Amino acid sequence: MIYFDNAATSFPKPPMVARAMAGTLNKIGGNPGRAGHSLSLCGGRVIQRCREVLAEAFGAKAPEQVIFTSGCTEALNLAIRGMLHQGDQVLCSHGEHNAVMRPLKELEAAGQITVRVLKPNSLGLVTPEAIEEAVTPKTALCVLCHASNVTGVVQPVAKLSGTLKKFGIPLLVDAAQTAGVLPVSLGELGADMIALPGHKGLLGPHGTGVLVLGEGMLPRPLIMGGTGSMSERMRQPEALPDRYESGTPNLPGIAGLLAGARFALHHRAEIEAYEQELSARLRYGLERMRGIRVLGHPGAEKLGVVSFVPAFMDPGELADQLAAAGFALRSGLHCAPSIHQWLGTLHSGACRASVGIYNTEEEVDRLLEAVDRALGQR
Ligand code: ALA
Repeated sequence: MIYFDNAATSFPKPPMVARAMAGTLNKIGGNPGRAGHSLSLCGGRVIQRCREVLAEAFGAKAPEQVIFTSGCTEALNLAIRGMLHQGDQVLCSHGEHNAVMRPLKELEAAGQITVRVLKPNSLGLVTPEAIEEAVTPKTALCVLCHASNVTGVVQPVAKLSGTLKKFGIPLLVDAAQTAGVLPVSLGELGADMIALPGHKGLLGPHGTGVLVLGEGMLPRPLIMGGTGSMSERMRQPEALPDRYESGTPNLPGIAGLLAGARFALHHRAEIEAYEQELSARLRYGLERMRGIRVLGHPGAEKLGVVSFVPAFMDPGELADQLAAAGFALRSGLHCAPSIHQWLGTLHSGACRASVGIYNTEEEVDRLLEAVDRALGQR
């Protein structure tokens, strides 16, 4: 199987990821932060090291401002549900994933908040003017998807954060597709919080994610319970990261994330350039085929995600034919109906190929041939 579903989760992982995970299961074993014996302490050190590496990479002032979660979805839920109050207005882009839209819409349906989706320009980009026009005295948060998991279009987040700062509105960035691939940090993006998965661009395992908290960002916790600290108190500790990390931590996952993130962050610029090259080749090839619409304006900056809609075939059927030919792609709405609505593809969905570090030019060419064959152009 040739894997082109890296936007869902990166695969394969660098070999040290599985080695690090197996090491914690086979050699460490203890429950981090729950005892004074060496196995517990050793596990705790792995977690602390991962926190330090990610804090430095994503611009957190202190390692404690890196909160481990089960994925980007939980990180987004924590930030959204933990920050908002009755009567607040929230701004978001048309490109948000359901991990953002569903918690927002739930709060809106309960009469707690209002949601304003910012109108993009013709390139699919949110503009400072759209923000200026939408802001009200009740605007309490803006959530922006750094790059769409459907079109790959990258939003000009650093520029938009300047506008939000003028109004004192905190910015939560969903870096699901960009962490480990593009430059992402609180400082570079002007963000107040960044939610990211551990298992995509950072090359870690499933079940890992992070919320990076900027100065003064203290969402209410989603989950409360044992933290191995201040156990005499019935109330959740306030100190970070314990405020947000109840229950036994995902030590194998975090050890794998540490190994994957070290690799990805060390090679980030090369990875960005390589994935750009591969996806540009794929886009170019698809755009030249008759009867295919490639999503995302050609003039917008994009990353390695390429979605396309065949004119005379269901995208799901195309993905099935490609799977039978040995290619792993994702079709449907990619849990992002709002951008499909904007693109006019809500009813058809699209077929998505997303490249990763282990894909090659030859694989891209083979995929193009397979698409061409499936469309009956040969
Ligand atoms: N959000 C992930 C995707 O785009 C799972 O496929």
